[in-house]
Amino acid sequence: MQQSLVFKVLDVLSDGKFHSGESIAKTFDISRVSIWNAIKKAEEFGVEIYSVRGRGYKLIQPITLLKKSSIQQVMGEIHHWFNVEIFDVMESTNSYLMEKASSDHPHASVAATHIQTKGRGRRGRSWQSALGESLTFSLLWRFNGGASTLSGLSLAVGIALIRSFHRFGVIGAQLKWPNDVLIQDQNQYKKLAGILIELQGDMEGQSSAVIGIGINLKLSKKSLSHIDQPATDLTSVSVEEINPNELLGQILKDLADVLGQFYTSKFSSLKEEWMTYHVYQHQTVTLSLGDGRSVTGLAQGVTQDGALMIETPSNGIETFSSGEITLRKA
Ligand code: BTN
Repeated sequence: MQQSLVFKVLDVLSDGKFHSGESIAKTFDISRVSIWNAIKKAEEFGVEIYSVRGRGYKLIQPITLLKKSSIQQVMGEIHHWFNVEIFDVMESTNSYLMEKASSDHPHASVAATHIQTKGRGRRGRSWQSALGESLTFSLLWRFNGGASTLSGLSLAVGIALIRSFHRFGVIGAQLKWPNDVLIQDQNQYKKLAGILIELQGDMEGQSSAVIGIGINLKLSKKSLSHIDQPATDLTSVSVEEINPNELLGQILKDLADVLGQFYTSKFSSLKEEWMTYHVYQHQTVTLSLGDGRSVTGLAQGVTQDGALMIETPSNGIETFSSGEITLRKA
């Protein structure tokens, strides 16, 4: 993927030092006006840049851009399994790979982008992602055996995320059924990451899953104020700054393991691990069903297929394969 001038300039500035317009212009063999235009465009993307006469430009907050080679380095040998593409700006990595899924685009293709302008969440929500604020990517995974074999997939993906977070010292992250990653921050459960899985294919033969993941890295106050639920980011809950390239490489490694296990031994082989991360286990929750009804009862874990079990005094344990959970305040 050809990098746009804006991102080439940001790459130069990403060391956090001053660079004169003249030296950047020389690097790319273009005019200083073009560099100035690129700086203005970067500011439109929300990047804050100092501009000091006689010294040049400097990022107020250093950013780490995604780099295929850095991601591959973290993945080691298995980087050959993946076809990684990095984009500067795109509408949605899920939409991109959903479109590719019907062509012969390779299995295990990854699309990651610095800025997502029409990121989508579950249940018609959008996913805010300004430059450097979140890690947004999708993975195209092809399965044999039809869409019916994919029950519990989103829960399995959640396990891969938790395993990766653990490796970066973020140990308190937990899973909210079916697939949000939450963590306690200032005595409240807040969302750290979300998963959107979209399927394509027939019920019997080959099917493709586009696994979209959004992880909050460092949300600005402005972005936080636009999110309609309590949210936090990795910077607030981890001791060290997490490098997005290392994080993405690690997640792809953990996804390869988990998806391999899911394919051969189904969700049932991962259920026990999922249960150890279940955030609302034995707590009273309300599950809103798609048809406007809701069920309130004790969350009692998941079935072998990944369906949620809720216990109510009137009906005992009932299982649900879709819906939106909220914790009922005591
Ligand atoms: C949710 O929490 O509702 C799911 C959020 C999923 C967001 C990710 S960001 C990368 C990928 N592309 C999208 O358009 N959505 C997913």
